Amino acid sequence: MCGIVGYVGFRDATDLLIEGLRRLEYRGYDSAGIAIHQGDRIECRKRAGRVQELEKLLESDPISGSVGIGHTRWATHGETTDVNSHPHVGGNGEVVIVHNGVIENYSTLRTKLQALGFVFRSQTDTEVVAHLLAHHVEEQLKLSDDAEGTEIYVRALEITISKLKGTYGIVAMFRDLPDVIIAARAGSPLVVGVGKGEYYVASDASPLVGYTDEVIYLQDHEMVVLTTTSIDLRHRDSGQLSPNIHTLDQVSTDTDLGDFEHYMLKEIFEQPQTIANAMRGRFNEDEATAVFGGLNLDPQQLRRIDRIVLTACGTSWHAGLVGEYLLEEFARVPTEVEYASELRYRNPPLEDNTMVFAITQSGETADTLAALRECKRKGHPTLAICNVVGSTIAREADGGIYLHAGPEVGVASTKAFTSQVTVLTLLALFFGRMRHLSYPAGKRMISRLKEMPEIIERTLKCNEVVEEISSRYSQFNNFLYLGRLYNFPVALEGALKLKEISYIHAEGYPAAEMKHGPIALVDEVTPSVFVIPRGGIYPKVMSNLEEVKARKGPVIAIACEGDTKVADLVDDVIFVPDVEDYLQPLVTSIPLQLLSYYIAVNRGCNVDRPRNLAKSVTVE
Ligand code: F6R
Repeated sequence: MCGIVGYVGFRDATDLLIEGLRRLEYRGYDSAGIAIHQGDRIECRKRAGRVQELEKLLESDPISGSVGIGHTRWATHGETTDVNSHPHVGGNGEVVIVHNGVIENYSTLRTKLQALGFVFRSQTDTEVVAHLLAHHVEEQLKLSDDAEGTEIYVRALEITISKLKGTYGIVAMFRDLPDVIIAARAGSPLVVGVGKGEYYVASDASPLVGYTDEVIYLQDHEMVVLTTTSIDLRHRDSGQLSPNIHTLDQVSTDTDLGDFEHYMLKEIFEQPQTIANAMRGRFNEDEATAVFGGLNLDPQQLRRIDRIVLTACGTSWHAGLVGEYLLEEFARVPTEVEYASELRYRNPPLEDNTMVFAITQSGETADTLAALRECKRKGHPTLAICNVVGSTIAREADGGIYLHAGPEVGVASTKAFTSQVTVLTLLALFFGRMRHLSYPAGKRMISRLKEMPEIIERTLKCNEVVEEISSRYSQFNNFLYLGRLYNFPVALEGALKLKEISYIHAEGYPAAEMKHGPIALVDEVTPSVFVIPRGGIYPKVMSNLEEVKARKGPVIAIACEGDTKVADLVDDVIFVPDVEDYLQPLVTSIPLQLLSYYIAVNRGCNVDRPRNLAKSVTVE
């Protein structure tokens, strides 16, 4: 969480930092701030709230200069106040820093620094780093005759970070070093943009787009010293390094809202296109299979895989659950889905031929990254199913598959989910055709998949009905979401969508599990959303639905077009096209996305920026 941007060059840093923070706001929007070097001092402006609040402050109290740093915050330590906003000042203004990550030993360090006379203004862990750095600068200056030397400040930062436990991406400026910014990373991403007579640093490449396409991805324990004319990259253990410059391609900042009121709605409506993009160029019709360019494993290695682990968080984890069902049904490969936050610390026995897929929209989720690294360390081939090109997970995995869904701006993930499910369906086809799936079955899957963009277009026609239904359900405070087999993960995902953007308590369950406890919740004011398309398990889900109706629970059903049996039984029905069981999540998830969207709008919630959340969760 938290977005960082820094600049040293010849442009007006204020405008550039503000634009960068706007692009990084998906990482946190609790507060925003910038610091600009003014020759003999560093000036900070910061405000609780969105970047636009900071802009208002800057209108009344402007600053300008050509060296600066900025930050958009997702609060970890300390409330969302002006004072807790970044940048944070160390000592008496000698040092100013921005930080992304969590300093686990901040409390011990704070006590020590207070004993040395440092006065804390905020409750953040970051201010500890700022004061610690100021302390070591002071110490190093005492030891040296050369008060101007950059090395003193580098050394001070090295000593400071050697005392930190936790994760950080830090960018620091120093009052007495007007043309320099120094960045260091361990666990939180930082990318350096290389310009002509200027350098940029940011949490991801989005603030650099339009300024430079040459980037250096900092690795853990690297530090970079940037001036207008020089870059000095070093690693904690191996010393000075020559920078590995990559060309940035395919990063899109196309985040125009068009005619839509919110990004979430826009992204829901993009799904016919994003699902088509996830499949583009990935069919081999002659062999009735799928093809992927970036797996980086030869057919022999792939054939030896006898177990798959899918690891992810949140919505991506739900996509993983659909993937488990798909891979086991079509490829007959035993598959497990692990919460990345658990897998990173668990020690499950993973046999040699286990392949690990990290599923992630952002490619920056801290837990997913840590789980991936843990599996890699143990020698397993790791692959990423990822949306953001060039993200940390995409770069660190041995290979991967991009979603090509374009930027997902709404905090609630929608189009990324259906793209992940599409890619997992292609993977099931791919592994299936290497094993037990027949040629005709492969052919049939391909033609069904190719129909999906048009079917999703048809599914979206339920929009008006969902909007109308939502007005009757917006005042309820508890919901149950129920589905079975392929629609069980859809039920979980529907419940998550409602929780996160409308702040309504919702639980997703396999429909048949309900009678083992949750049915006790059913009453006249607890609606159940049943995902009940036709298919193998339809009569069983119907019985579960009857059980809820018998207890006077209001029911909204997601059912197949023309299903009058369900329509007659329930309070409200949303019809979707009839597709084969394994394709149902692509269709049934859409009315649930719309339902949560309209309920949140009716309740006056900030749909695209729900409270307490951030788009990219880069702390554990
Ligand atoms: C929910 C949502 C989150 C993310 C989760 C993982 O709508 O967006 O639950 O799915 O934080 O994020 P990624 O996929 O970026 O790893």
